Amino acid sequence: MSAADDRVQGMFLALFESLPRQGPGSRACAMRALALCDEIGDAPAILDLGCGAGAQTLQLAELTAGTIVAIDSHAPSIERLREAVARRGLSARVEAVVGDMASAGLPRASFDLVWSEGALYNIGLGPALALCHDLLRPGGYLAFTDAVWREPNPPAEVAAAFADDYPTMGRVEDDLAAIRGAGFALVGHFTLPEAAWWDDFYTPMEARIAELRAEHAGDAEALAILDQLAAEPEMHRRHGDFYAYEFFVARRPGVRGRTNSCC
Ligand SMILES: C[S@@+](CC[C@H](N)C(=O)[O-])C[C@H]1O[C@@H](n2cnc3c(N)ncnc32)[C@H](O)[C@@H]1O
Repeated sequence: MSAADDRVQGMFLALFESLPRQGPGSRACAMRALALCDEIGDAPAILDLGCGAGAQTLQLAELTAGTIVAIDSHAPSIERLREAVARRGLSARVEAVVGDMASAGLPRASFDLVWSEGALYNIGLGPALALCHDLLRPGGYLAFTDAVWREPNPPAEVAAAFADDYPTMGRVEDDLAAIRGAGFALVGHFTLPEAAWWDDFYTPMEARIAELRAEHAGDAEALAILDQLAAEPEMHRRHGDFYAYEFFVARRPGVRGRTNSCC
């Protein structure tokens, strides 16, 4: 990686780490998805894959009486979550772990709920769904968000952005087929509203970019990088109708509380 690429990557990470959350989502959407998990039990064992700095991890800790293992491969985000967990007195219920979700060595059939907002695609949706199925107890729930195409023939700028970030991105129907193909029963799904893109994600991102522009005034390279970073919320403002984030809730078939080694 060149020094210029390093600087782009460094500013990208510093910007994302500073935000309330690292992708679209909201407490209201988490509550709606959680409400679909209506047989989850009183104190579920929850796994949050690709938790980032843990905005939704902390919401799950408030919304349930369960225990949560939260995993992300980016160590600074986990450090931020650990500090928040300690500050809120949640250490007995929330464990934040640096790790790769694909090889974290978690025990099979041990979770009542696997949660993942905007992260499963990083290891490929198919392998991620197989992993989640394996980690859930029979009767356990999977709740995750995924970016999906909403309209065909997106503008070149949008096509290029997703070709880079999520080349295999499909439509809602493709995700539903993948969910069923992985052996889950669909419980429900809904599209994240615009507020879930802006309130805790793009609005603070644009505010932080404005601060960084002021801090780096006169530094042409930094300002050019900030222009690149500002392109994402701007693209969403102009072309957000072409893509969406969908919340999916599915269930591993089986009787809750009974481990079944054959399926
Ligand atoms: C779009 S962010 C979403 C973060 C958080 N769930 C949220 O909604 O704010 C995706 C997260 O997945 C994490 N990630 C990417 N690949 C991963 C992997 N293989 N294992 C664990 N985490 C991963 C990234 O570090 C990042 O924090």
